[in-house]
Amino acid sequence: MSDTTSQPTVTSPETEILAALGARLIVLVGMMGAGKSTIGRRLAARLRLQFLDADSEIEAAAGMTIPEIFEVHGEQHFRDGEARVIARLLESGPAVLATGGGSFMREETRRRIGDKAVSIWLKADTDIIMRRVRRRADRPLLQTNDPAATVNRLIAEREPVYQKADLIVASREVPHDKIVDECVGALHARLCGGDSANNSVGATQ
Ligand code: S3P
Repeated sequence: MSDTTSQPTVTSPETEILAALGARLIVLVGMMGAGKSTIGRRLAARLRLQFLDADSEIEAAAGMTIPEIFEVHGEQHFRDGEARVIARLLESGPAVLATGGGSFMREETRRRIGDKAVSIWLKADTDIIMRRVRRRADRPLLQTNDPAATVNRLIAEREPVYQKADLIVASREVPHDKIVDECVGALHARLCGGDSANNSVGATQ
């Protein structure tokens, strides 16, 4: 007699992503103000993964804030510490890791992320970035006479490199949950089959 009480196995995109991810991390890259920490924290909660924030870990390791590190030791020292901290965090997967906006520019860090993680570029335009960073003085690179021009210059330098991320999701003024849904959809397509030909989600152009 057949077993009529057995239930079909219930899976969700989140469960399938976790199974396919294994020990790898999900790493969010992109400009300051793109929402890497905000979206990363929510994405981690959705997937029931730990959330790691590279900037906070750098500050904890140095016992100083990022503006203090820049002021006392200079940007190069910060970048070297940032690369070391990210290398260490990449050993603690599975997790969601939000990185500082300049970290993906270092080739060695990109290679490590490629080995240990699936990367998502949260792509934001100048207007959104300026709206989000305007009121805060915690980004030393933006303490210039014309922060919008600085952001435009950094976007021009960095976008060709951010483009190398595995996935691209447009960060824009929609509810955070929508961006998280799009990250989940993009991860599912990439890791679990589906439409892997297209790595962009949302209005990224
Ligand atoms: C930087 C971005 C910052 C921080 C530092 C430098 C950058 O992190 O690492 O101020 O070079 O873009 P967020 O991207 O989290 O703001």
